Amino acid sequence: MIKARISVGYGYEIHFTRSVFSIRNSVLKKIISSREGKRRHEILVFMEKKIATLHPGISDEIIRYFKSAENISLVSAPLVMPGGEGGKNFKLIENLCRIMAGSHLCRQSFICIVGGGAFLDTVGFAASIVHRGIRQIRISTTVLAQNDSGVGVKNGINMFGMKNSIGTFTPPFAVINDFSFLDTLGQRDWISGVAEAFKVAMIKDAGFFRWLCRNAGKFKSRDKAAMEKMVRRCAELHVGHIAKSGDPFEFGSARPLDFGHWSAHKLEMMSAGKIRHGEAVAIGLALDSFYAVEKGLLRQKDFDLLTVSLERIGFRLWSDLLLKKDRRGRLEIFSGIREFREHLGGELHVTLPNGLGRKIEVNELDEEIILNAIRHLGDK
Ligand SMILES: NC(=O)c1ccc[n+]([C@@H]2O[C@H](COP(=O)([O-])OP(=O)(O)OC[C@H]3O[C@@H](n4cnc5c(N)ncnc54)[C@H](O)[C@@H]3O)[C@@H](O)[C@H]2O)c1
Ligand SMILES: [Zn+2]
Repeated sequence: MIKARISVGYGYEIHFTRSVFSIRNSVLKKIISSREGKRRHEILVFMEKKIATLHPGISDEIIRYFKSAENISLVSAPLVMPGGEGGKNFKLIENLCRIMAGSHLCRQSFICIVGGGAFLDTVGFAASIVHRGIRQIRISTTVLAQNDSGVGVKNGINMFGMKNSIGTFTPPFAVINDFSFLDTLGQRDWISGVAEAFKVAMIKDAGFFRWLCRNAGKFKSRDKAAMEKMVRRCAELHVGHIAKSGDPFEFGSARPLDFGHWSAHKLEMMSAGKIRHGEAVAIGLALDSFYAVEKGLLRQKDFDLLTVSLERIGFRLWSDLLLKKDRRGRLEIFSGIREFREHLGGELHVTLPNGLGRKIEVNELDEEIILNAIRHLGDK
């Protein structure tokens, strides 16, 4: 017998800044130059189309930015591609891989991805398979990407009717959260990421949960200071979990950061992308928190505080899809439990709050209680 044991250490920084491509902003240049061993650094930038449209002149700004940087070559003008949930499929992947491979990038080069969570997932997946992985720098442009999806170690696209069914675990080289991008978000995407903050707060930080509830009105009214504070704390809790939980690549079955997500992923797919990820997470949190109350894990008043706060922010804790039946007359949402179980590897692990700021894993879900939760949301 030959035994092999391999340990690979990963580390990356998450920076918070404004106007990342302004010539005076050195954050990105410093990140790239921090890589040792090679004198010239090559970089290819992929940008979500919406960003190029809403921020006219940004491509020229990026070209000027890299011209002003010593030892960094932008291998072509920024490549503009469609983003959003609809772009998160295999059609784009072949094209992205062809461009990356055809741009003569090597594994020491950089791919810089500018966009929302869906775009980061799609381009990040392609970057993780070309040459078995090119270093990626994520520049997240939505609240949800800045506080949750962009700071983690996963990517993925939707295939076979399932969310994120194809993807890899690939830590980024670095992440830059540029708050100035958030100004152009529509109201739905402005609040969407706040649901992820409630998710992580409910299972990890009761004080943060209460702060979120107290500031619900500020999130709705686009208070930038509150939003930026929320993004930082949420990103910190998220990355803290990945770095310290002992299972960053999810070899085990526990998925605390997927609290509220079994139904959220199903709802998103059932709505064919019409319900945003964060909007679905808000509904998923309400369902699973109701469940936790019924199981004696959470106080009714904490559930009420959660739902009132989410609604005050502007979330609608309802979708008619919750009552949609399949051909056998069963609620379609329930197949989200089976899909979640399959994704985990056969055994169901659902995280629920166990009091505020703490969590517990359960291995089965009682459909009768979920049905009551759905009825409760429908009656509200
Ligand atoms: N990889 C992970 O670990 C992980 C974790 C959580 C969520 N996700 C994924 O992230 C995605 C959700 O991310 P999202 O909420 O950012 O959605 P998104 O990327 O679909 O962006 C939402 C909308 O905002 C637009 N947009 C992006 N930046 C903008 C800006 N600055 N101004 C105006 N509009 C802008 C997009 O074009 C899109 O229409 C889902 O696909 C979800 O599955 C991944
Ligand atoms: Zn999520």
